[in-house]
Amino acid sequence: MPDTFQNYIGGRWVPARSGKTFFNMNPATGETLGDYPSSGPEDVAAAVDAAVAAQRAWRLTPAPKRAEFLYRAGEIIRARKDELARAMTREMGKVLAEARGDVQEGIDMAYLAAGEGRRMYGVTTPSEMPNKWAMSVRCPIGVVGVITPWNFPFAIPAWKLMPALVAGNAAVFKPAGDTPEMAWHFTKVFEEAGLPPGVLNLVFGSGANVGNPMVEHPRVAVISFTGSTEVGLSIAGRGGALGKRISLEMGGKNAIIVMDDADLALATDAILWAAFGTTGQRCTACSRVLVHARVHDELVERVAAKAKQLKLGDGLDPATQVGPLINNSQVETVHAYVEVGRREGTLVTGGERATEGTLAKGSFYKPTVFAGVKADARVAVEEIFGPVLAMVKVKDLAEAVEVNNASRYGLSSSIFTADVNAAFTAMRDLDTGIVYVNHGTTGAETHLPFGGNRGTGNGHREAGHTMLDPFTEWKSIYVDYSGRLQRAQIDNN
Ligand code: UN1
Repeated sequence: MPDTFQNYIGGRWVPARSGKTFFNMNPATGETLGDYPSSGPEDVAAAVDAAVAAQRAWRLTPAPKRAEFLYRAGEIIRARKDELARAMTREMGKVLAEARGDVQEGIDMAYLAAGEGRRMYGVTTPSEMPNKWAMSVRCPIGVVGVITPWNFPFAIPAWKLMPALVAGNAAVFKPAGDTPEMAWHFTKVFEEAGLPPGVLNLVFGSGANVGNPMVEHPRVAVISFTGSTEVGLSIAGRGGALGKRISLEMGGKNAIIVMDDADLALATDAILWAAFGTTGQRCTACSRVLVHARVHDELVERVAAKAKQLKLGDGLDPATQVGPLINNSQVETVHAYVEVGRREGTLVTGGERATEGTLAKGSFYKPTVFAGVKADARVAVEEIFGPVLAMVKVKDLAEAVEVNNASRYGLSSSIFTADVNAAFTAMRDLDTGIVYVNHGTTGAETHLPFGGNRGTGNGHREAGHTMLDPFTEWKSIYVDYSGRLQRAQIDNN
């Protein structure tokens, strides 16, 4: 593997036209890893040109044949799972078991999306007229721009790019600046799978220099973005004004509701996993617990006792349970929220950077729990994207649902209860794209639609049976085989 990486444009590995580079880092150790092109609008333009050219033949390649490249990619990823997972842990910090899960989502998505090559169902329907045929078919849109975050640096590109490609689009891929290496691996897999040159193009660089020019490029018809609500809304503004299709997955403030009849041991383990897994850096992470007043104190005690025992460290060490945050600036953001939280609730555990021994070299933060937080406090309302949990007391299910639904975000939610009536009421009333019963807020499976309501999204869903929706246009086709003029939608009576 090289130390200096390049863009992938039209099937060739090339540096940025400007020759500029940036580097990525291991957040557990602070060591630098590699150099990547710091690209600009001219590199985006070259990638879009390559994509436009390649898409002409790609769209005419039968979908089951396009799917074969995805099956092959799935096989390559499967054979390389361990190597990819290690590279991911080194680059973004999540513990190895989670990194393996992230790569596994890529494998699952490859096979699931490849299956669409032999489905991609359209609709036939009777015509109003005799001797006339009517149907609707899915068509590729053209060139798709994909902008991905660092927290799931393999799975999220897979959710977006695999459906886009199997549907017959070409793509330009701009990964997050913190995790370029995983994007390089992802692209390399498709190169090795024999994907025709130009169908998938990779351009490294910043949002300002690569993301925005991609959004504004007249030949990029769709932008699929996962990241912060702030950036997502700015993309929606820019792209929307140009009439583009913008598919957004943005922030979350996911709640676990714990009722007084819940299995508290199970709820505790689920909270720990959902709040501190991936160091709280999932858009599905649980960052608030809405707990029934009768069990509030006991649950706080249980969660805090276990949170204190979580072992922080380098994710490559099998004993590590919580890895570092992505970078030092995220440590500062998290700590600023903790300072706010100290005024809004009772700090039960954590609340500071972890600097013991070798942790001092990395971006580590202690799992933090606040209790007695008011529902509208900032730490209970704003997305923090770190290991910070706010426990909020509620008096009953109705209040819990109301607090859950008052959030600006609506990605996932969860309820722990033994009461089937409460569970079904919650399933009906929780206003989020994903609802879990007796399970934490993370762990969405690739074959169900993924996405959220309100500030989390803009009406799109990824993966699942909805995976092709952002990347296809419907075409309705009428074939009149009567041999005479038949006038539809004319009142002949
Ligand atoms: C994300 O954090 O952006 O449900 C995605 C989950 C994962 C995906 C999270 N399968 O937690």
